[in-house]
Amino acid sequence: MAQIRIRNTNEIIAGEEKVREFLNQYEVIYEHWDTNKLPQELADNFSLSDDQKSAILNIFQSEIQELASRRGYRTWDVITLSEATPNIEELLAKFEQIHTHTEDEIRVIVAGAGTFIIKGTPDTGYFDVNLEPGDLISVPENTPHFFTLTDERKVIAVRLFVEENGWIAHPYEDHSFQKS
Ligand SMILES: [Fe+2]
Repeated sequence: MAQIRIRNTNEIIAGEEKVREFLNQYEVIYEHWDTNKLPQELADNFSLSDDQKSAILNIFQSEIQELASRRGYRTWDVITLSEATPNIEELLAKFEQIHTHTEDEIRVIVAGAGTFIIKGTPDTGYFDVNLEPGDLISVPENTPHFFTLTDERKVIAVRLFVEENGWIAHPYEDHSFQKS
């Protein structure tokens, strides 16, 4: 289950209900999928072929359809990142810049792990949301954030989009950002 760390105070928020309550005040959606149905050969594979990515979308078809009809997503895909990703350093450097989008950014971690760093109220500042398999998060439109991997550097995630270009990153300069 997801865990939150508030950067300014190092406070940790854990437990599904507390995490959801904290995130909901920022209109960040937090839900959970059952990833136990993902076969081991897909869950342990961080350089998936296109066929394997389609297989993952099929496995979660009902969850995806339900989410799409509830929230208006029109396209979805599977992304995997690991040390095997050829331009991983370049990609991570790009991901780790604070930015916003004109639509929400929704990700479901189906294997591995990842962290969203999100800007809260001025009092709270930035907080990290550490995500595990099954965790679904949606960062609202125009909310400054970025994504990074954990030290393991392995993730498989499902992404859903309303518009093809809605998730273009608009850089957000923030001198209040605390690096760690
Ligand atoms: Fe983003």
